[in-house]
Amino acid sequence: MTKRKGIILAGGTGSRLFPITMGVSKQLLPLYDKPMVYYPLSVLMLAGIREIAVITTPEDQSQFQRLMGDGSKWGLTFTWIEQPSPDGLAQAYLLAEDFLDGAPSAMVLGDNIFFGHGLPEILARADTSDAGGTVFGYQVRDPERYGVVSFDEGGQRATSIVEKPEKPASNYAVTGLYFLDGDAPNRARGLKPSPRGEIEITSLLDTYLEEGRLTVEKMGRGYAWLDTGTHGSLLDAGNFVRTLQDRQGLQIGSPEEVAYTQGWIDHAQMEEHAETFSKTSYGDFLKQVLER
Ligand code: TTP
Repeated sequence: MTKRKGIILAGGTGSRLFPITMGVSKQLLPLYDKPMVYYPLSVLMLAGIREIAVITTPEDQSQFQRLMGDGSKWGLTFTWIEQPSPDGLAQAYLLAEDFLDGAPSAMVLGDNIFFGHGLPEILARADTSDAGGTVFGYQVRDPERYGVVSFDEGGQRATSIVEKPEKPASNYAVTGLYFLDGDAPNRARGLKPSPRGEIEITSLLDTYLEEGRLTVEKMGRGYAWLDTGTHGSLLDAGNFVRTLQDRQGLQIGSPEEVAYTQGWIDHAQMEEHAETFSKTSYGDFLKQVLER
């Protein structure tokens, strides 16, 4: 199988975070001590992915580039793609079609935070699955805000996914992390925009589901899947990160740590990173990683 490539979808309007996001992209806002985009980036890196397309609005792209560079500092290669207007999550596959060049992909939304013991294992399972695609279902209190999965009587096999249903068939929301095969751009091209004018990811996933080629893996309650889309949830997610990091002395969402443990950057490069951040506890943490 061709090596899976990554996509970070970091465009959008962030209108629920106005006025903050009138001047800066949501995905560049701080989630406690790091820019938000570090967290989904680290998830793709944990999945072993080094070739990543970052999709942003045209206005925000240069700021992302200033922060992230060409990826080489983390042993990665970034391809920068503009999304001129936020026409839906599945549009990412059309924009990234040349970049993917037939390869399977893992796409993560730039504002989605995942945390939990065993995450690398479930990512590895999704990467090697024979199915056309794998997505993750996560139990939430307010499923009507998300794409909702219904399961068969056994509770294991997904039967449908409905975008923001008035009467949700279950409490399982589809998270913003999608492992799809190389056919995704082709399928996305066949989709019509929804009444709200977006090319919906649920419609794309439906094409796989109808053929029995979509695995919906339940992400259990031991995982955190956090929302950052509103002022309150952004603050809550930041406090969650702070609480865990302060308690454990470990970092959530550190691309430097993942790059180093994956062997993509060497000791000297890691020392340089630690030096850059020497005035912060982030730098102290990177030093600790070196001494492990
Ligand atoms: P949303 O939270 O649905 O949209 P948004 O970020 O524009 O925020 P709001 O609803 O407050 O206006 O988007 C989820 C993620 O997907 C987020 O990281 C932005 C990204 N996105 C795109 O990059 N392009 C798109 O066309 C859409 C719809 C979302």
